[in-house]
Amino acid sequence: MRAKSQAQPNIALVKYWGKRDAVRNLPAVGSLSITLDALYTRMEVEVGPAPGQDCLRVNGEPNTAMLPRVSRCLDSLAGAGRPAASITSESNFPIAAGLASSASAFAALVVAADAAFGGSRPTLELARLAGRASGSAARSLYGGFVELANGRDDIELERLAGPDDWPLTVVVAVTASGPKPIGSGEAMTASARTSPFYPSWVERQDQDLELARSAVVSRDFEKLAAVAESSCLKMHSVMWTTRPPIVYWNAATLSCMEAVRSLQRDGHPVFFTIDAGPQVKAVCLPESATLVARTLEAVPGVESVLTTGLGEGARVLERR
Ligand code: PMV
Repeated sequence: MRAKSQAQPNIALVKYWGKRDAVRNLPAVGSLSITLDALYTRMEVEVGPAPGQDCLRVNGEPNTAMLPRVSRCLDSLAGAGRPAASITSESNFPIAAGLASSASAFAALVVAADAAFGGSRPTLELARLAGRASGSAARSLYGGFVELANGRDDIELERLAGPDDWPLTVVVAVTASGPKPIGSGEAMTASARTSPFYPSWVERQDQDLELARSAVVSRDFEKLAAVAESSCLKMHSVMWTTRPPIVYWNAATLSCMEAVRSLQRDGHPVFFTIDAGPQVKAVCLPESATLVARTLEAVPGVESVLTTGLGEGARVLERR
């Protein structure tokens, strides 16, 4: 059997950083995200007749580095004695560069694999399986505004609003497209062990989630902007105070933040957020998108700018 799926990355407005259970990859904190539209990963999974070696191609090239993680994800879905699978992944944006490519990849993988292995699991179950592979991937199973809550035994997910209910625009300024210096999993473990800020980061997360949730429900852009920027800067403060320090930013990252600040001073509805990489994501109301994109394009060090609206969650495109 063969199935093809599509998933888009999501961008957290209230960030996830840290794990409470490394084996099950459960997050230490809840998070709130928006699922994007124009950036995507398409994944095809073909299940062979017999057990054996899986094979993975990413953007046309064989990829052995990601294969063990992908195989483990398939094992969790179909059992260790499953037939081997051939997996083909294509993304239309830079991977492993802080653009949440692992989120769209693992969300797309669980959806395609479930269909290819003949299953029809509910979305929450697929989200939990994706979350085992990449914590943020669980959120890409859902569209629009998504809250991931830390339940007692597992994660819980809720779509707070659809992509058309509050159609924000995200302008991504790519400031470096190479791979990042340290993967987020390893970095989180180091932060939990060594950052003096980590305990208060975990302790205060529920307040940020509460604020962001109410901002989404009341479509209050300024309120969302304030909590999102604060959450982003708190997460990076935890990274910076980790030993050895984790700094994903470059000079252009800071210049983009300054450019967003100057747009804000001129009264434009826009805010920034940054993940485990140097790219800056500027979230704005659609009427400001052209100005925000032009402004970020002109920042020295910005390689390219991608503009996207909000989109739906991961889905099957075809199955045979
Ligand atoms: O899902 P992971 O392990 O790649 O974690 C990424 C976490 C951040 O992107 C930095 C924040 C978030 O909530 O997405």
